[in-house]
Formats: sequence, C-alpha cells, structure tokens
Amino acid sequence: MLNHIGTNNIETKRLLLRKFKVEDAEEMFENWAKDPENVIFLQWNAHKDTDETRSIIKMWNEEYKNSKTYNWCITVKDTKEIIGSITVVKLFEDIECAEIGYVISKKHWNKGIMTEALGGVIKYLFLKIKVNRIQLKHDLDNPASGKVMIKNGLKREGILREAYRNNKGELRDMAIYSILKSEFKEEF
Ligand SMILES: CC(C)(COP(=O)(O)OP(=O)(O)OC[C@H]1O[C@@H](n2cnc3c(N)ncnc32)[C@H](O)[C@@H]1OP(=O)(O)O)[C@@H](O)C(=O)NCCC(=O)NCCS
Repeated sequence: MLNHIGTNNIETKRLLLRKFKVEDAEEMFENWAKDPENVIFLQWNAHKDTDETRSIIKMWNEEYKNSKTYNWCITVKDTKEIIGSITVVKLFEDIECAEIGYVISKKHWNKGIMTEALGGVIKYLFLKIKVNRIQLKHDLDNPASGKVMIKNGLKREGILREAYRNNKGELRDMAIYSILKSEFKEEF
C-alpha cells in the first residue's frame, strides 16, 4: 500500500520544488503557460491570460487537500524564479505505480534543470510514498524529454501507438519509459 503524504517541499542542488500559490499566476503565465511553443507536446493549450492561469492554480490548491496529489512548482533557489511544474499525472494504486509529467520555461531548457527536478521527485516517490514503479511517456518528436528520463536511470519500454491526443487534437505515438524500486540508485 502506498504511503500518501501529498505535495511537500523537495530540495535539490539548484531547485526548490514546492506547492503552487495563487500569487505564482503572473510568473507562470509569463514564463511558460502563455507560449504555444512551450506547451507543444502537452495536452493543454497555452493560456489566454493570467486569469486562466490563476483559476487553474486555485483548482490545484483545492486538489492539495487530497493527500494523493503530487504537483510541484519548480523554483530556482538562488533567484526564487518560478520556472515550471512537475506532477504525478496518474496513480495506479493496485500496482504501486506513479506516472509523471513536466514542463519548464523555454529560457531554461538544456541546463539540466528537468533532469535535476525529476531526480528529486523519483527519490521522493520511491523513498517516501513507497511506489514500486515510476513511468513517463513522451511524444516521439520530443527526444529531449526522453533524454531527461534516460539520465535518471529509466529504461525505454517501447512505443504506444496513437496513445495520446496532443493539444491540436491529433492522435500521436508515444515512447514509454520506467524505473523500478529495485533499480533505483540515488546517484542517478
Ligand atoms: C522536455 C523538457 C522538460 C526538458 O527539460 P530540460 O530542463 O531542458 O532538460 P535537461 O536539460 O535536463 O535535458 C535535456 C537533454 O535533451 C537534449 N536535447 C535537447 N534537444 C534535443 C533534441 N532535439 N534531440 C535530442 N536531444 C535533445 C539536451 O542536450 C539534454 O541532454 P544532455 O544533458 O545530454 O546534453 C523541456 O524541454 C520542456 O519543458 N519542454 C516543453 C514541455 C514538454 O515537452 N514536456 C514533456 C512532455 S513529455
């Protein structure tokens, strides 16, 4: 059985992962939510305005009352800048498995940030929530996301054909990756 404790702070070398606050709306909108290119491989559309972002964060704040909610705002420790999110998008309680999704602001791509954030979340889920399996998927045209997974010790399991609908309404193939508790090493 999983040991649900909800979204608590996770600290890594450069980052603090924490709950979203309503006051984060402007920065989230400016840094990634408003930009269609930034959300191209996601299932949601770029936000129209900060009100849309604010109402989504309000909804997440309600969801935080449920201890099975894991949804972190990625912030830079030094500058306090809000640069992205990393979330358990699906829980498979019967097989003790969590599926993760993530996004960061374009201006911070390719600095190893998501690799670091995912490392922190994997550690939290294995050691604190006691999951047995963590899985992630990415659109085949988004190899950078696969790199983040490989760098955290996940193994590519194969291709799921036409397994998600992107935000343009197209059915797309996805690669699926996983890591098991028995494979987890803190140094990844
Ligand atoms: C995918 C995403 C999360 C990666 O975050 P990031 O912080 O830039 O990732 P990292 O810097 O930790 O690692 C990215 C790796 O991909 C590599 N990479 C970048 N573009 C690439 C490409 N077109 N092909 C292959 N590798 C690529 C980088 O070189 C880096 O590898 P390296 O460290 O070996 O050099 C980020 O680009 C993002 O938020 N994209 C928009 C939303 C999204 O696609 N989310 C994922 C949905 S599955």
